[in-house]
This record gives sequence, structure tokens and C-alpha cells, in this order.
Amino acid sequence: MCGIFGCITTNGDAAPTIHASLKRLEYRGYDSVGIATINNGEVFIKKDQGKIDEVHKLLNLDDLQGNIGIGHTRWATHGAPLKINAHPHTDCTGQIIAVHNGIIENYAELKTELENRGHTFQSRTDTEVIPHLIEEALKQNPTLTLTQAVVETIKKLCGSYALAVISSKEPDKIVCARNESPLVIGVAQDATYCASDLTAFLPMTNQAVMINDGELVTLTPGAYEIIRIQDGAPVTRKPKTIDWTPEMAVKQGYPHFMIKEIHEQPDTLRNTLRAQEHYLELLSTFLDRATEVFLVACGTSYHACLAASYMFSKLAFLPTYPVYASEFIEQHGKSVNIDSTILAVSQSGETADTLGAVTCSQQRAATVLGLTNTVGSTLTRVSRVYLGQQSGPEIGVAATKTFTSQLSVLAQLALKLSTKRGKVSQDEMDYLAEKLDKLPETVEAIILSQEDKIKQLAKKYRDAKIFFFLGRGVNTATAYEGRLKLMEIAYVPSIAFPAGESKHGPISLIEHGFPVVFICPRDGQTHKTLIGNIQEMKARGASIISIIEEDDEEIKALSDDYVEVPKGIPEVLSPIPFVIPLQLFAYYMAVEKGINPDMPRNLAKSVTVK
Ligand code: M6R
Repeated sequence: MCGIFGCITTNGDAAPTIHASLKRLEYRGYDSVGIATINNGEVFIKKDQGKIDEVHKLLNLDDLQGNIGIGHTRWATHGAPLKINAHPHTDCTGQIIAVHNGIIENYAELKTELENRGHTFQSRTDTEVIPHLIEEALKQNPTLTLTQAVVETIKKLCGSYALAVISSKEPDKIVCARNESPLVIGVAQDATYCASDLTAFLPMTNQAVMINDGELVTLTPGAYEIIRIQDGAPVTRKPKTIDWTPEMAVKQGYPHFMIKEIHEQPDTLRNTLRAQEHYLELLSTFLDRATEVFLVACGTSYHACLAASYMFSKLAFLPTYPVYASEFIEQHGKSVNIDSTILAVSQSGETADTLGAVTCSQQRAATVLGLTNTVGSTLTRVSRVYLGQQSGPEIGVAATKTFTSQLSVLAQLALKLSTKRGKVSQDEMDYLAEKLDKLPETVEAIILSQEDKIKQLAKKYRDAKIFFFLGRGVNTATAYEGRLKLMEIAYVPSIAFPAGESKHGPISLIEHGFPVVFICPRDGQTHKTLIGNIQEMKARGASIISIIEEDDEEIKALSDDYVEVPKGIPEVLSPIPFVIPLQLFAYYMAVEKGINPDMPRNLAKSVTVK
């Protein structure tokens, strides 16, 4: 996730406005920043790695001449967070300049094709193909306008983008377009803006035009023209008046970051499913050759590892050991060796316990692999190979969207490894890959259809003093995660177990009205045994809250309350959709209790002490 901004004005230089607006977009990414302007046919660019304030101190981002410009604040996906990879990017001549948020999936093929035609690239980003493609379109057909050349370019792109382009040949316009990455236009008397979200221009204007996928906009001062990319048809859309306060705008109208991030999951999952092919291949090769594999992480990331251990075992027949990073040195520090492989999972890439386990493993010559949301973090620097989970910055202290992204990447990795090892039939692989691709829609449907119901459940159970969360198989991890969310956000003491373990002790706690949450996918071997576990609890007076597939009448009949997810989810992938109701439940429980879920007491987003 990155932030883009463009400004064309009749009122002085654009750069100070772009700089201030990028600051408001900084929550979308902050590993590098850049601004480009045009003045009297000359292009000015300032960019560097680092946070906006750091780069401004060094370069003075307000000091670029020209009434037109574009800017970018970056969250690295392709290419490390270095100056050379910071946006804006230009074509060979330096006349066409672009900023981009999203992922161009076919950039490698496009880049090779362009290099064969003599284009020279400066960066390792996917974005840089855009200005070069525009340059090429204009070279092939010099009569094209900038808008037409951008249309031609977009037709070649696969993937997601919100992009903004300027050219010193046509210095009176910004061309921007959208596919699966947000883009909104702001219209003032003397200026027009394009941005990743309206927070960026809200102090200048409250007149906003939302842009849809497949649309392109040409901006001039105080005016805009939208067309449909597919057929060039003009689109008429009037600006809407936005009455958000700046605080509401940062959260895009949501009361808290946590609920905003829960709602972002269909999009973050779509992102996660894109363009990791090369790294998945590389990582799966390491795992395939490994003698013993430890999956090491803390908190929510540990739960992703626990789920992954079932995925690797079921799909690739690879035994792996999920270990709490804080326990790793005590538990395995002496035995880990040159034949060991450690897959460290950390959203922040900076968690001290996880890095401690990594250092210990490296000292003993083990192979360290990483999965993180933060390209440029310590984990990416110390890993032999790492995968980026591409969820965008997560502001809420509770991990939500980053958990489902981790699960999605780990599922892709398990599938890749499975293909390599030939353990599962091609039919089953195709079926699972198709289901994985559909998960963003499934998650969307759950949020849409169940959120109100979950709000009511939170009202009903707001005074409960304790909860049980029970699941079997891979959903033991879901149960653990549901418990962690409720404890950390709503301060409700909770216990989670594999459901089969409950009768070995914890069941003695059960008395009339004790709420027990069961995670009940229908596919797989666990459904029948779970019904038995529900009966055991029910017989002792527990209140059963079940997360079930639609029309699971058998479990519905045993439940006091239930939340439904769409039918036909393969068990091995089920933690992704089944955790959504648990995230929502924790959030609404906190809201019911008057707790700010974004800032739970005693916690920090990144725990950098052991
Ligand atoms: O950045 P990491 O994934 O390494 O963080 C690990 C845990 O600190 C983190 O998941 C923590 O448990 C969150 N509060 C969970 O919501």
C-alpha cells in the first residue's frame, strides 16, 4: 500500500501542497517519498528513502517550482526501500513521470520486452514499466495525446493500480487511472487534485469525485474529464460534498482503525494473492530440501504458523514445528543446526523475540527464511529469502488484516510445495487454488451479511466474565486467535483449546450460561467430532456460540447463537474466513465496553524488547 497525490493549480507552486498532502497519506506507507513538478517545460524531481520529515529535512520538498506535480509515499513491495526505487519514476527521456500504488503483475515480461526495444531501467520496481510504456506508445504513434498514450499503456497492464502521470510535453494536465487501488479526485476553484484517499485534499476542498475501476481521468486546473478505459466512453460524475472531520477522514469514516482494517481484508487478500510467484518458488525449494523446519513467531503471527503447520502437513506432507519465538532458544537453541530451517513470521519484522530466535539459528548455521509485512525491516535483512505479505500498514494494535494475509501466503506456499512434491492430485490442487482465489469475495460476503448480527451478539454477551474458544485441526489456530483478539481488545479473560482437549481438564469450569465459541467448518474430518464436543458442553449448561457454514442445520440446532459463513470452504483454508467473525466479535465487545480497540492498555504494535 502506497499513497499517491497529484495537484494542478493556478495559484502558485504545487510542491508545498503535495508535500503537506503526502503527510496526510503517510499512514499508507512511509519508507520513501518523492515529488515531481514541471515548470516552463523543465522537470524537477526530489526523492529519497526515509520518512517524509527526514527526506524533507534533507531535500526541502517544498522547494520545487511549477504549478503541476505528483507525489508518492511508499510502502515497498517490489524493490527494497532505497532512493533508486522511490517514486516518481520516469521514462528514458525524463519527460514522462509517473507515481503508482498497486502491483503490476506482468511487469517482468513488460520490462524484458521494453529492454529489448532499447529502454533503460533505473529501479527494481514494477512501476517503472509505466512511463516507459507511455514513451513507447508515443514513439510508435507520435500523434497520440498523453491521455491516449496512458490508455494504450493501461491496456497492457495486468494487476492493480492507481496511477498519476505528467509529461513536460503536455504540462497542463495530470492523467490518472484506477484498477483495484483507490483513487479519488478533489475539485477546488483554482486547483484539481488526485489522491489515494480524500484525507489528502480535505483541508483544501470538500468536493470529491470517486473514481471506479476501469476509469481514467484527465485533470486540468479546476476541471476533470473521466472516461471508461475499455471503450473511451465519457463518464459524467458530479463531485460530492464530504462532511468528514480530518480525524474521520484518516479512518475513512470508520470510528476506529481496527474496524477499517477488518473491512479492508477483501482487498488485502486480493493483494496478497498477487505476483509472488518467484519468491514462493524459491522459498518452497528451501522447504522442500529441509531436514527439519521450525515456524517461529509471536502472538497472532504464531497462530498463523500453527495453522501453517497443518497446511504443510496436509498438502505437502511436510512436518513442521510451530514454536513461540520467546521459547525457541530454550526449547531448540542447543539442537538447531546446519540442517535446520527456520521460517520466521513477523508482521513488523522487528519483534525482538522473533529476531532473537533468528540470531540464535544463524549462529548455529541454520537457514533463515522470512515472512513479513515490512519490506526493509530487520527480518528482511537477515533472511536468506523472504516473502512480503503485502497487507499495507496496520495501525490498529490488534493484528487483523495482517493475520489473514499471512495465512493466505502460507497457504500459497503449502500449495507450491505440494506441487513440487506431487503429493496431492492435480484436481485437488486446482480446486484449492480456485477456492483460495475466491476467498476475498467470501470474506466480503461474511462482513456484509454477518456484521450486524455480531454487533447484537456483543450486546448480548457484553457482561460475560470468561469465554472458551474451541476448534479442531487447523482451526485450533483460529480458536487461539479468537481468544487473543477478545482478551487483548476487550479485556475478557478467555481460554482456547483444541476441542478434544477440553474434556481433559478445562470442562470442569463449565456451568450454566458459560459462553463457549466453537469453530465448525463443514468440510473435512472434524465436523462429526466437533458435534460430540458441542454436546458435551451443552449437557453441562454452556451457552454455545458457533461459527458454521450456511445451512449447517445440525450444529444450528445445538447452538444458542450462530454466525454463518458461505458454504463450500475447504477445511485447510477455513481459518481465513472463519476468523473474520471472531475479529468482529472482539471489536464490538470492546466498543460495547467503552474500550478504545485501537489502543489497548499495556500493549504496543511492535514489541521490540524481550
Ligand atoms: O510484528 P509481529 O507479527 O512479529 O508481532 C507479533 C505480536 O506481537 C503480535 O501479533 C501481537 O500479538 C498483536 N497484538 C496481535 O494482535
